[in-house]
Parts: sequence; C-alpha cells; structure tokens
Amino acid sequence: MDIKFEKREQLKEKPDQTKLGFGKYMTDYMFVMDWDRENGWHDARIVPHEPMLMDPACVTLHYAQETFEGMKAYRTKNGKIQLFRPEMNARRMINSNARLCMPEFPEDMFVEAVEELVRVERDWVPSEPETSLYIRPFMFATESSLGVHMANSYKFVVICTPVGAYYAEGVNPVRILVEDELVRAVKGGTGFTKCGGNYAASILGQVKAEEQGCTQVLWLDGVERKYVEEVGTMNIMFKINGEIYTAPIEGTVLPGVTRDSIIHILKDWGYKVNETKLSVDDLMKAGHDGTLEEAFGTGTAAVISPVGEFVYKDDKITVNDFKTGDLTQKLYDYLTGIQWGDEEDKYNWTVEVC
Ligand code: COI
Repeated sequence: MDIKFEKREQLKEKPDQTKLGFGKYMTDYMFVMDWDRENGWHDARIVPHEPMLMDPACVTLHYAQETFEGMKAYRTKNGKIQLFRPEMNARRMINSNARLCMPEFPEDMFVEAVEELVRVERDWVPSEPETSLYIRPFMFATESSLGVHMANSYKFVVICTPVGAYYAEGVNPVRILVEDELVRAVKGGTGFTKCGGNYAASILGQVKAEEQGCTQVLWLDGVERKYVEEVGTMNIMFKINGEIYTAPIEGTVLPGVTRDSIIHILKDWGYKVNETKLSVDDLMKAGHDGTLEEAFGTGTAAVISPVGEFVYKDDKITVNDFKTGDLTQKLYDYLTGIQWGDEEDKYNWTVEVC
C-alpha cells in the first residue's frame, strides 16, 4: 500500500503510565482509508487523530453499519514492540463485514495498516507492567442517505490508546450477573460478529448488573435462556471437576482470539476442553456442590479475568473463595509472558513490528 503521512504540528503530552485506565487517551495519529463502488479501497493515509466530519444523515448514525476489532501492541523488556496474532483480527473483521454487508478489507492490508500505525506511534507503547497499546480498527458506512441498504461508501480507520487493565478490579476476581431476561444473540443474527450494535444492545444488561454490584453480565442463549454463552466484553471458561467448559462457536458467540489461544494452551497442557453447551443450572449446581473450581473470562481488553461470584435470580455462587484460581493465574502469566516477550513464543503468535 502507498500510505501517505500527514504530520501534526504538535505532538500530545503522554499520560502517566501508571494511571492509564482503558481507552481514555488517544495517540497522535490514526490510519484512514476510503472505499467506494467506483474505486474500491483507496487513499491510505496516516493523519493526526482528530474529530471527523460527519453528515447528520450518515447511515451509520441511523442503521449502525459499523464493525470493529480490538488488538494490542506490547513493549518487550528489550524494547521491541510486538503484535499478537493480528491476522486473526483481520479475518474476524472480514467475517463481521460479510454479515453486515460491508466491503471486505483484505487481511494483508489490515495487518500492514496496523503495523505501520504502530511504527509511527511506537513512543506511545507503554512499558509499565500490565500496560499495552490498545489498537481499535473499525469500519463504518459514510454515505448520507436514509434508505436502508448497503451503502455506497465506507471508511476503514485505526486508532490507538495506551491502556492498563480493563476492569477497575485489575486482574482480581470480578462479580458477574447472569442475565435471565434480556438476550444478546440468536443464531442467524450478528452474535458472532464484532459490530457496534451488539454492544449497544448489551448496555441495558450492563446497567442492571452494575445496579446489583456486578462488573459484567453473563449472557444466556437467546432461545431458551438456559445455556451460558459469553460475558459482555469477553468469552468465559469454567473449570469443573478438572475439565474446562466453554460455549461453542456456533453463530451466537464471538470467536475470541484470546479464547482460541487459551484453548490451544490448555490442550497442550493436557486439559480436556469441552466446547459445549453448559446450562446455567449445571453451573449453579457445580458452584454449590464444590465442583466448580475456577471461572475466568478471556478477551483482548480483559486478558484473563478471574470470576469470583455469579449472581443468578435469587441465587449466587462464590468461586474459589473469591480468589484467583491457580490455573487462571498460570494461564494469565503464560499468555501475557508470550505477549510481553518474557516466554518463548513456541506457537509463533507474536509479530515483531519494530
Ligand atoms: C476487546 O477485548 O478488544 C473488546 O473489543 C472488548 C471491548 C468491547 C472493550
């Protein structure tokens, strides 16, 4: 790709790396590329991160033709910067776009755009423990028209933000509300995609969860409200009687990059991983009879996040005395060890950028 570069007059001041939080500070630059029916993808550029002009009739504002990705760049101890399985994000965005009838952004262009932006923003990749540069590629329709149809023009944009832990709890256990009324996804819908609409529809559940002192929502299947699927911002896994259980990828659950990586690692470590439907009743029963040994979420933003309690209707279960389980901690240490370059990357998952 021929990527043009527009220098900004003044670089921003960088935030305190020990107080980053999640998604609060944006870096100096963003990658932008346009698509229209006549020219396809064109005009790749890295420009100052600034507000974008939008017509109030832009179809995205009305019909949510938007998809996005979440990935990170990590600074290793010897100062190198690396990405983690970027091609997986590129492929997932292709699948999301196909479902939303949006044009395909080719995998090689996606990876090149991200790599080039990270090279430009290398000074923004933080070095404090547990920090990284979160990268948010996204695409949206730019056409101004109120008809509901595939748009004639789109933008692909990548922005970056230096981050610490996603949850205020850091890597400590979180409390989760099992949502028994609202639903997130049904087969044939958009549950497997990363589109803004999925998250918009989840916010009411999130508000209910927070009202009950919980950090997140555990969604059940949209038909019977019986089987556990995923948590608002991460996939979820349970260790029951020594075996791992997680919801299968069958159209309603997001195919997480961290989920896939953890399944690989767990199988390599000799664990039986059941990608199968687990009913919330069986989960609660396992919590009460002591066979639920650990529970943790997996996600790019959330990394590996231990769950200390599930609240379901009038019932609740505490997991591992609200302490991070041994396996959860071991997985967190090993995965982040690969990502931050402290562990040998025997899977070839990391990609050095500079
Ligand atoms: C990610 O883990 O990258 C996500 O996209 C979750 C996000 C909605 C915070």
